[in-house]
Amino acid sequence: MNDLMESLKSRKTIRKYSPEVVGDDLLDDILKAAYRTSTTGNMQVYSIIVTRDEGKKKELSPLHFSQKMVTEAPVLLTFCADFNRFNKWCVLNNAQPGYDNFLSFITAAIDALLVAQTVCIAAETRGLGICYIGTTTYMAKGIIEVLRLPKGVVPVTTVTLGWPAEDPDQVDRLPLEAVVHKEVYSDYTNQEIERLYSEKENREDSKQYVRENNKTTLAQVFTDIRYKKEDNVYFSNMLLKVLEDQGFMNN
Ligand SMILES: Cc1cc2nc3c(=O)[nH]c(=O)nc-3n(C[C@H](O)[C@H](O)[C@H](O)COP(=O)(O)O)c2cc1C
Repeated sequence: MNDLMESLKSRKTIRKYSPEVVGDDLLDDILKAAYRTSTTGNMQVYSIIVTRDEGKKKELSPLHFSQKMVTEAPVLLTFCADFNRFNKWCVLNNAQPGYDNFLSFITAAIDALLVAQTVCIAAETRGLGICYIGTTTYMAKGIIEVLRLPKGVVPVTTVTLGWPAEDPDQVDRLPLEAVVHKEVYSDYTNQEIERLYSEKENREDSKQYVRENNKTTLAQVFTDIRYKKEDNVYFSNMLLKVLEDQGFMNN
């Protein structure tokens, strides 16, 4: 148990992997541990697509904006919100599924994300490195085509997995008090925001990052470069269309 706490506290995202194989037995063991994760009503409304094939990784790569980990990691896991299997079971059993709506998508997405995080923890406690890939929700339509996901299934996140070939420093976090509220939400004054973000803003690597991006504040790197409003609106509309096509916006 202490090993697990130690692993959680010392973890970091790994983006470079050695070519060493992640054995089937090890991967199966990780997946077996992860599928004990709690799910809504024990419905297990998620699926995991395991990609090891180089050709499939190459097909997926542009959909993840050609991030190198996608082709370099030995294993890629795509976690999907999945009501397809459960709907079929209902229909076969004279039960009318009522899961073609947004709430059901969120329910299934929560199940998928919880399992994803358990896979990551299990993998990291075995010494593997992981990286979440956030482009999955941006390019869900293309991923659905490549992975042949039927109606009722939407990819919500991807994780690359492999033996680490780098040992980066841990990255910063806000102080714990920034994210934890006691009993009720305690909203932030301007002064508190400045205090909570000051360590992050004053780190040399952050200052360098601001200079490299020709911005004057760290926040601008997020709003003007990394997560821009126009991109967010564009990809939101694409995702809403995917949810409609996959049968989650009918009611
Ligand atoms: C949902 C999600 C999506 C992410 N997407 C990407 C990604 O597309 N590319 C990447 O290099 N890292 C990605 N990351 C990793 C984060 O950048 C990383 O977790 C964060 O910088 C903190 O670093 P740490 O995990 O080493 O503590 C993602 C993380 C999460 C949770």
